[in-house]
Amino acid sequence: INNIAVFTSGGDAPGMNAAIRAVVRASIFYKKNIFGIYRGYEGMIDNDIVELDARSVGNIIQRGGTILKSARSEEFRTAEGRKQAYENIKSRGIDALVAIGGDGTFTGLHAFYKEFGLPVICVPGTIDNDLPGTDYTIGYDTATNTVVDAVDKIRDTALSHNRLFFIEVMGRDSGAIAINSGIAGGAAAIIIPEEEMTIDELVAKLDKGGESKKSSSLVIVAEGGKSGSAMDIAAEVTKRFPYYDTKVTILGHLQRGGAPTYFDRVLASKMGVYAVEGLLDGKTDVMVGIKDNLTVFNDFETIMSNGHEIDTDALRISKILSI
Ligand code: F6P
Repeated sequence: INNIAVFTSGGDAPGMNAAIRAVVRASIFYKKNIFGIYRGYEGMIDNDIVELDARSVGNIIQRGGTILKSARSEEFRTAEGRKQAYENIKSRGIDALVAIGGDGTFTGLHAFYKEFGLPVICVPGTIDNDLPGTDYTIGYDTATNTVVDAVDKIRDTALSHNRLFFIEVMGRDSGAIAINSGIAGGAAAIIIPEEEMTIDELVAKLDKGGESKKSSSLVIVAEGGKSGSAMDIAAEVTKRFPYYDTKVTILGHLQRGGAPTYFDRVLASKMGVYAVEGLLDGKTDVMVGIKDNLTVFNDFETIMSNGHEIDTDALRISKILSI
């Protein structure tokens, strides 16, 4: 391997810049040329590729977003799109890829590897923390801290008016942000995609809180929950309890921005270096992860067939504490 290329793909996540920096500097450390591909697979197809050096990633470790920009590419899902991408990669002499992104990114990378045999490695970057094979994904810690900060602020106003707030957080298929921000923010209930909570169950829980004279309540709703959006759930609950003064806040994309926490910066720095070292060590079609403080490389099948693990103990703790 002489020429490595790095790119970010899918939803951006705080800490992606720290990962780019680590991949670039580790490549240079090991005397390899390093390229950056803009806008993920889109840029690969459009030949939007530049050579990077140690200085091109200066002053970015503290910045949210991704300097290489990101995209969700429809064209890369087609064989023609991937062939065009490969032609561009080949014409630059690029002989290995580091992709920073989530499950969709890894899926594209795997297809590319299968077709063209180029050594590839995925670095898990997504706020959702929904990839097995690593305890944490890059961006999750920052996003969860952002949510907790917002929940604390909402609590101030909820308490002042004795209101019931439904706060919708991200995580299409994953309740990780909801569970842990719910515990840290003292939520009265947490609704996640992985576990059904009916409106009746929720109402019973809130009712109990009312009986024990709770003056306000916060319910965290993960966007992919089975009982609908925070808006839908709030409407249903209001039907049953017209005397509740309910409000809804959708935190949305503010969860994806901001300076990465120290945790995400260190995680991204480690994973970026491990990814380059993994490639140079002959690993391919794997995702780098850190589990129980150990570096692990899991292949595509292992990552995709296991589905993401839900932190059942955290969920249990949240139920004990939200009385
Ligand atoms: O996968 C990360 C994520 O932020 C999810 O939590 C969310 O559902 C999705 O991306 C939103 O995607 P987009 O920014 O494309 O709307």
